[in-house]
Amino acid sequence: MNILLTGGAGYIATHTCVELMKAGHDVVVVDNYVNSQPEALRRVEEIAGRSVKSYEADCCDASAMNRIFDENRIDAVIHFAGLKAVGESVHIPLRYYRNNLDSTLTLCETMAAHGCKRLVFSSSATVYGVPDEVPLREDMFCKGCTNPYGWTKYMIEKILSGVVEADPEWSVVLLRYFNPIGAHESGRIGENPNGIPNNLMPYITKVAAGQLKQLSVFGNDYDTHDGTGVRDYIHVVDLARGHVSACDYAAQHTGCEIINLGTGVGYSVLDIVNTFERVNHVPVPYVIAPRRPGDVDACYADPGKAERLLGWKAEKNLEDMCRDSWRWQSGNPNGYQA
Ligand code: UFG
Repeated sequence: MNILLTGGAGYIATHTCVELMKAGHDVVVVDNYVNSQPEALRRVEEIAGRSVKSYEADCCDASAMNRIFDENRIDAVIHFAGLKAVGESVHIPLRYYRNNLDSTLTLCETMAAHGCKRLVFSSSATVYGVPDEVPLREDMFCKGCTNPYGWTKYMIEKILSGVVEADPEWSVVLLRYFNPIGAHESGRIGENPNGIPNNLMPYITKVAAGQLKQLSVFGNDYDTHDGTGVRDYIHVVDLARGHVSACDYAAQHTGCEIINLGTGVGYSVLDIVNTFERVNHVPVPYVIAPRRPGDVDACYADPGKAERLLGWKAEKNLEDMCRDSWRWQSGNPNGYQA
């Protein structure tokens, strides 16, 4: 298939580009580079040994999106584009709603106008809100999100399921990601956050590299095995392969499916720190700090539906995730900047 990746230069998308090409698909990328660099795509080409057709454009720009569909026969789209910083979304909610919703609406209108009705969407476990019980299953009721970023994912899920209801020829797969970490084993592509990272693993790698003094562990009085927050960390290459399976599924079925992409295993913040230090032989100094508002005790997936429907399950373990994260950070101390 010829697959369009919106936000294709980002962290999860670049890994997905590599896996799609490895599986024999062709890719076209559109990205406005607000939170990514063209260098990431150059490295994807280097890993894959093939060139990637890319457009610098905003998915909210209908004429640019039309041009992409006019110039390419697109069989399916993976919609990664979107603003994604939880804390920032609380301060500038309108920008999040405007950008994430508008880009999705424009994309879907353009797809419909060109008869392309296969879409895989980057959703998030954040739509489950504060869970009553874990593991989280796709059919559980979502009581509400804790921030505007999460609400944009929730709303887009509703919009896309409405599109399928109105036109059953569409095939939509809503992928709820848990916590992607790690990097490609080549060490050439990885997560490259702007400024000081918000998420755990990029913060740990910067502390290990000596770029930040110490990690603040947000809370050690949660209802978990060691008191620190538990999450379902998934290797980004496993996650990328989940997208390949979702595209194959979308090509063979119509309708709308929600699918968790997680491992089903929860690790605490201190499990991550200890494993990182052990496999990489590098210290990660930390202090215990107050809880971060909005955080929950534990969040992990029931990954059974992905295995049943897509024939996919995560294969890499926590040691792989820690090793590959560190290889990326230590080989690229300034990310994609030389
Ligand atoms: N944590 C720390 N110190 C840090 C950063 C994080 O102790 O400096 C802890 C958090 O308290 C939490 C765990 O590490 O217990 C993971 O935090 P992250 O910020 O890495 O990830 P979250 O689970 O909060 O959020 C992630 C994504 C969201 C997504 C959500 C889905 O960032 O986009 O998973 O559940 F919505």
